[in-house]
Amino acid sequence: MNTITLNNGVQMPQLGFGVYQIPLAETAEAVYQAIKAGYRLIDTAAIYGNEKETGEGIDRAIKEGLVTREELFVTSKLFILQTPEETAAETIVHSLSVMNLAYLDLYLIHQPYGEVYGAWRALAAAQKAGKVRAIGISNFKSAKMIEFVGLTDVKPQINQIEVNPWYQREEDQIWHEKYDVQVEAWAPFAEGRHDLFQNPELAAIGQQYGKTVGQVVLRWLMQRGIVALAKSVRPERMAENIDIFDFSLTEADMKRIAALDKQESAFFDHDAPQQVEWFMNRMLDTEK
Ligand SMILES: NC(=O)c1ccc[n+]([C@@H]2O[C@H](COP(=O)([O-])OP(=O)(O)OC[C@H]3O[C@@H](n4cnc5c(N)ncnc54)[C@H](OP(=O)(O)O)[C@@H]3O)[C@@H](O)[C@H]2O)c1
Repeated sequence: MNTITLNNGVQMPQLGFGVYQIPLAETAEAVYQAIKAGYRLIDTAAIYGNEKETGEGIDRAIKEGLVTREELFVTSKLFILQTPEETAAETIVHSLSVMNLAYLDLYLIHQPYGEVYGAWRALAAAQKAGKVRAIGISNFKSAKMIEFVGLTDVKPQINQIEVNPWYQREEDQIWHEKYDVQVEAWAPFAEGRHDLFQNPELAAIGQQYGKTVGQVVLRWLMQRGIVALAKSVRPERMAENIDIFDFSLTEADMKRIAALDKQESAFFDHDAPQQVEWFMNRMLDTEK
């Protein structure tokens, strides 16, 4: 497994497993199977509602001797309603408690809304207290990331953003490199949108190496120096997605993939009014 060194010296696996949208009853098993398949980076979030089940999968893998806690890199995220400083501090403690962990490896501000500066002070304090090893942001556009870095004392280690063949974020990556904030890709497969898994260009690139579309996409992200999170509930796909360290894409392959960029999210724009409205409603829902 490739590793990446963050701006505070913490090392993390470059490829990870995400649990977004995994049905609650399947989460613990999926996390356990992912660890069994070799994943060491596990990504959840308070809003996914499955921190407890994620913790159970981790616990089982540790108890069965598949892995030690120190070998894992566990991430969770703070949702919008929890952003005021005090609530953020409580939420970190809550995440640790429901996941049954003494510390998290990474904690992120999930969305770029609300009082993110107060939340950041709580994350920085948690990091100082040893509750989290690395802290970061998510879904911050480059301009907002630059503003955030400029106005805070502790630099984020990570910005977790959408990156996939349809939305490649090359310019954003350059800005993040300039500020030494590591880009982590969510939805590397765009959840299959625009028929990603059937794309003839990606399939043809893979055929040269006996690799699948999914493997080509993840390999492309590895070669760009991006951390990637892939999700699957199927053990055979978990194994497929991690089997990407025995081949390399050529410059020509990378250029063919670069040509697929639509320069637009496969999901939504975080600044679109209807999207912000959706998030605000979601926030109110979670308060009930
Ligand atoms: N920070 C954020 O706002 C944010 C937003 C979205 C996601 N994330 C994180 O990023 C992780 C990954 O993103 P995602 O789950 O949205 O989407 P994704 O990983 O791009 O796509 C997952 C989908 O692809 C399918 N799939 C996986 N491997 C495959 C393969 N080899 N061949 C064919 N189909 C395959 C999965 O189906 P099966 O499960 O049936 O195999 C699932 O439907 C999440 O789980 C979460 O941890 C973060």
